[in-house]
Amino acid sequence: STGFYSKDDGFVYCDDVRVKDVRQQVPESPFYLYSKNQLTENFQAYSDALSGIDSIIGYAIKANNNFLIMKHFREMGSGAVLVSGNELECARAAGYAPEKIVFNGNGKLYHELVYAVKEGVLINIDSEFDLENIRNAAREAGKAAKVLLRINPDVDPEVHPYVSTGIKSSKFGIRNERLQWFLDEVKKDGKALDLVGVHCHLGSTISKVNIFYDATVLMVDFIKEIRAQGFDIRYFDIGGGLGIPYHRDTDEVMPSPSDLIEAVRKLVSELGVTLILEPGRSLVGNAGAFVNTVNGVKSNGQKNFIVIDGSMAELIRPSLYDAYQHIELDQPIPGAERKVFDVVGPVCESADFLGKDRELQVPTAGTGLIVHDAGAYCMSMASTYNLRMRPAEYWVDGGKVKKIRHCDTLAEHLAKFEGL
Ligand code: LLP
Repeated sequence: STGFYSKDDGFVYCDDVRVKDVRQQVPESPFYLYSKNQLTENFQAYSDALSGIDSIIGYAIKANNNFLIMKHFREMGSGAVLVSGNELECARAAGYAPEKIVFNGNGKLYHELVYAVKEGVLINIDSEFDLENIRNAAREAGKAAKVLLRINPDVDPEVHPYVSTGIKSSKFGIRNERLQWFLDEVKKDGKALDLVGVHCHLGSTISKVNIFYDATVLMVDFIKEIRAQGFDIRYFDIGGGLGIPYHRDTDEVMPSPSDLIEAVRKLVSELGVTLILEPGRSLVGNAGAFVNTVNGVKSNGQKNFIVIDGSMAELIRPSLYDAYQHIELDQPIPGAERKVFDVVGPVCESADFLGKDRELQVPTAGTGLIVHDAGAYCMSMASTYNLRMRPAEYWVDGGKVKKIRHCDTLAEHLAKFEGL
């Protein structure tokens, strides 16, 4: 089997390897563990769904920027979607082709834009000042910037406000009433700005494909309007945002990549454009787990706590978005009773929890505890709060456990202060 699942024996597996066995093999705890096969399957689901459509899958590397994971998707034919010059540099180092890279962002810096124009990647215009910066960057680079207009379609993705990006009140994209101003600016200097497409991104953890359909209907109108003014629009970038089923205990269902593509296939093929998708979470989310060791169990008289060695520093989604990620012990504990626990780390604040009110067997110190669906926006959002070191990453590749990132070290930290 592929990915993370538990068998009748009560143990949790990653592909065909027991997570408990992985813990015994690796020196660090906590650590991130990925299933390479699951990554492959997730990418394959998108490429299968896109058959017959001229398209680019642009992996949103902010979701997980592990260099080996980036390379793996690139080897499968992926493009990349980025939000910083550093992400661009890593994507190029991982071998991503400039024609398959999109540079997004509401605050792209001038030097990043010069670099992006030189590399020849697609760049999204997000605002008036962004257009100005891109135009100047193109002049400095001595070549035209290939640009897309990021239009805010004002479609509600029905998600947590922190991950909603395509509604009127959002900081991203250009307002519809301003579209003509942008087109006029591009017309003024065709040598610097080559308008080749439009982009929208609605939000993240989206659970209904009709939301993508509704946005596409609006974007089709924009494309027609822009084409009518003589622009050769060749790309429609529909953004990312497809959710994954985090609630493993319930019968939560999420649309698949194929559901998403089928919802927009007809509209897109009538347009005659290259469709760009920007999936992050749905490519990597379920392929990773955060593996911890139980330090102890305590109670404050009202609540029971499992205290683990991992924390909000390595995985902040529960604290930051009240996000739910499924939690399990990696093995059954014969004879142990079940209790309701908050799962917490050692960090010095009450926001430090990985899960609340979880019914689990009472573990003993040393038991493995797994936070599931930790492939997306977990390691990439890890911090060093409390001087914790960002953890190592491993993947199971062909039944073997391989390290794919070293743990940060305190020596690296101290070196930053040398010779000051
Ligand atoms: N494209 C753009 C322009 C984006 O802003 C994002 C994510 C994506 C694509 C990828 O979206 P995905 O397919 O992964 O949903 N830290 C939050 C999620 C932030 C999403 C930011 N933008 C979390 O942990 O839930």
